[in-house]
Amino acid sequence: MSDGPKRIAILLSGRGSNFAAIHEAIVSGELDAEIAVVISNRTDAAGLARAAQWGYRTAAIPLRGQPSREAHEALVIEAIEGSGAGVVALAGYMRLLSPGFVERFRGRILNIHPSLLPSFPGVDAQAQALAWGVKVAGCTVHLVDESLDGGPILVQRTVPVLDDDTPETLSARILDEEHRAYVEALRIVTSGKYWVQGRRVRVEG
Ligand code: GRF
Repeated sequence: MSDGPKRIAILLSGRGSNFAAIHEAIVSGELDAEIAVVISNRTDAAGLARAAQWGYRTAAIPLRGQPSREAHEALVIEAIEGSGAGVVALAGYMRLLSPGFVERFRGRILNIHPSLLPSFPGVDAQAQALAWGVKVAGCTVHLVDESLDGGPILVQRTVPVLDDDTPETLSARILDEEHRAYVEALRIVTSGKYWVQGRRVRVEG
């Protein structure tokens, strides 16, 4: 197996439904890529257990026990590079990345956020959208830069906001679209047939 853009490192902290969607897309042949490693900062992440069950290489790297944030991140970088992954997919990874990390993998780190960015960055995006009263919500997969949820956008998908929505019902509707959006974005990035022009990501063809 060679290093490169078709090998994906997944970073997650929780249930891992986006990871599962990526796994299924690869298994079904919908996405021509492979998962090189699944890394979590939480030893008890359900997504990590699932990854191990499915036979993936996994790494649990908790912050606790590390002398510093930098030392923790160095271990994460080592796990990614040791797997030969060329793309890093953040899938519910609840830690901020340092500028050094972003620089190391620049243009090759993807994140998914449950809002139509640049609206509602940060935590509780779905509740923010409801509180604002928007009629259309959705999700965004973007390249990661040093800003919070602010890098160039790869894919967005929309859902309607219904009058009787709660943060839970809206989150569930958005999550279905997240799974499609992440696979679509990874198809673009793993194909290598895209380029970034300022804030705009252009896809060949
Ligand atoms: C998703 O809503 C994603 O947009 C956000 O964290 C959640 C992760 O869900 N960044 P899962 O662990 O992939 O199910």
